[in-house]
Amino acid sequence: MQRVVISGTGLFTPSESISNDELVAAFNAYVQQYNLTHAQAIAEGSLKPLAESSSEFINKASGIKSRYVMNKSGVIDPSRMFPHIPERADDELGIQAEIAVISAREALAQAGKTPADVDAIIVACSNMQRAYPAVAIEVQQALGCGGFAYDMNVACSSATFGLQNAVDAIRSGSARCVLVISPEITSAHLEFRDRDCHFIFGDVATTLVVEAAETCTVDGAFEVLGTRLVTQFSNAIRNNFGFLNRCDESGVGARDKLFRQEGRKVFKEVCPMVAEQILAHSAALGIAVSDLKRLWLHQANLSMNELIAKRVLGREFDRDDAPVILDEYANTSSAGSIIAFHKHRRDLAAGEIGVICSFGAGYSIGSVVVRRC
Ligand code: COA
Repeated sequence: MQRVVISGTGLFTPSESISNDELVAAFNAYVQQYNLTHAQAIAEGSLKPLAESSSEFINKASGIKSRYVMNKSGVIDPSRMFPHIPERADDELGIQAEIAVISAREALAQAGKTPADVDAIIVACSNMQRAYPAVAIEVQQALGCGGFAYDMNVACSSATFGLQNAVDAIRSGSARCVLVISPEITSAHLEFRDRDCHFIFGDVATTLVVEAAETCTVDGAFEVLGTRLVTQFSNAIRNNFGFLNRCDESGVGARDKLFRQEGRKVFKEVCPMVAEQILAHSAALGIAVSDLKRLWLHQANLSMNELIAKRVLGREFDRDDAPVILDEYANTSSAGSIIAFHKHRRDLAAGEIGVICSFGAGYSIGSVVVRRC
């Protein structure tokens, strides 16, 4: 079978970041204003007052300390509470394509490749800025690549699902070198006025260069030993935004058209599924747990990752075994495990094995077992 490697990674990090304290200050100012404006209804009991948020809660419940965003001023303005991202003309590069291209250029340089070497681009992320043309095709044109390009969305698991598509395309001969790009502008689908989730997400873009082992020219690539995907329907994480929204005026702009979740339920249901998947996948490949050097896990919640690492590794572990980037980046949806892989893989020795694993809405889980060449 054709051997396939990940030969480069790229990361675009926005220049603006918001600390928990800054986010909470804006949220609490919004809450005070809301409660003041609705004081009479609250006093009459017809409306519930909003409760304030706290940095301590956010840190303790999630491990998140800050998040990068495409636009900070809009998010922390208590009279706005969402990013300001101006629309662009059709003949300008779109913002998602722009950050995708930045991360792709870094990944290509790392892999020693030029756009002429790329014959497929998959933009895999949880939100697309428009229905069509595909963002991936815009990226293809901006980079100057040939071949074909398409968008796909499996929420937080988009990158690992895209990675399997890339590996399959190379193995089947339909492509030789594939970019899997995850431009996640999650701040645009987050309700910053909801204290249950206002702290969760951050913006970023990542790229993976995936190619046949025989075309790889750089040291330190990672061979893909196997990919495994699983999905199981759940309403616990959901976003009803879509093209049918305008067909029922009563729902336009309603809360369900942005991200929402039952966080505790997700935590309880998904952790065992993820641990089981990593164990079953490694076993199917004939890899002993003791040979798993690193877990590059989806970055949604620190306790969740600690629980999964404990169940999988069955021993004492530290941040070398399961690197954490969510403290600085928050949950960047499909890009989270790829950021961890991007930042924490160079110290692995040739032959050492790790697992990239995503999980999230769907439910969806993707695991990719890799070995340093
Ligand atoms: N500040 C202060 N208190 C808050 C708060 C905030 N920002 N948000 C919620 N609370 C309160 C709740 O109202 C609740 O109060 P109660 O006990 O009086 O009812 C209490 O804190 C606990 O809330 P809960 O939602 O149960 O917290 P949690 O410990 O489950 O943590 C998450 C919330 C979202 C951090 C956590 O559930 C999580 O990360 N889950 C996994 C999510 C995930 O992986 N999703 C994949 C998505 S892509």
